[in-house]
Amino acid sequence: MIVFDDVWFSYGNREVLRGISFKADFHERIAVLGESGGGKTTILKLILGLIAPDNGKILIDGIDITSLKEEELIPIRRKFSIVFQEGALFDSLPVKENVAFFMRELLKLSDKEIYTRVSKLLSRVGVQEAEELMPEELSGGMHRRVAIARALAVGKTKMFLYDEPTAGLDPINSERIISLIKDLADKENIGFMIITHVVYVAWQLCDRFIFIKDGKIIFDGNKQELILTEHPSVREFIKELFFKIKKY
Ligand SMILES: Nc1ncnc2c1ncn2[C@@H]1O[C@H](COP(=O)(O)OP(=O)(O)O)[C@@H](O)[C@H]1O
Ligand SMILES: [Mg+2]
Repeated sequence: MIVFDDVWFSYGNREVLRGISFKADFHERIAVLGESGGGKTTILKLILGLIAPDNGKILIDGIDITSLKEEELIPIRRKFSIVFQEGALFDSLPVKENVAFFMRELLKLSDKEIYTRVSKLLSRVGVQEAEELMPEELSGGMHRRVAIARALAVGKTKMFLYDEPTAGLDPINSERIISLIKDLADKENIGFMIITHVVYVAWQLCDRFIFIKDGKIIFDGNKQELILTEHPSVREFIKELFFKIKKY
């Protein structure tokens, strides 16, 4: 479980989060929504202990991570499979070495075992043919899939974290990544938190929606509550949904 208890965070004198509180079970499918620059990625970084809050507590499985040392954070980070926004693959390494990278760092496996796992992971995300390619040879959609395979490589994943997983993808590839995210969660029976500013992506994948505005949570609820909300900023944000969904 993830618990944020009155979390405040600033970059220098730029106050980004101003008292964020929520509880999330690892099995949930949660979207964190809000405008660009609103502090969404900052929340992911805080969950992983990459940055520490100025005030407030962050508990992961009951452990307050805000005072942990770097090496104590490693088992915390391994509970998550993370796909950052840039998907950042190592440009100088072929796909298979990108996926193998953290396995080599963190797991005591032979080369043979590593490459067997790499092949399995790549076929799980549907790009087994890309093994020998360099990142620059990949399409945007393939790039994102390889980043997902790499995120899956080492974790005893309890939850997926995706930062803007469809950013920069055309509609067809967006749809494919959305189905992949869903399939992985269904098959492994693990939840995810997805950061996005595209409300329709969130709608297709999630059953809980958290909106951030001016450093605060202005909405936290399910689909029904989202559709019925009276909050003017949230309504403005979800306007586009009403054109796309017909069952409400
Ligand atoms: N490393 C940093 N140093 C200074 N400011 C930052 C840094 N990272 C992000 N910011 C600023 O903090 C705000 C929130 O950033 P972020 O969490 O990335 O927003 P979002 O993911 O919602 O677009 C933005 O105004 C951004 O410019
Ligand atoms: Mg961001």
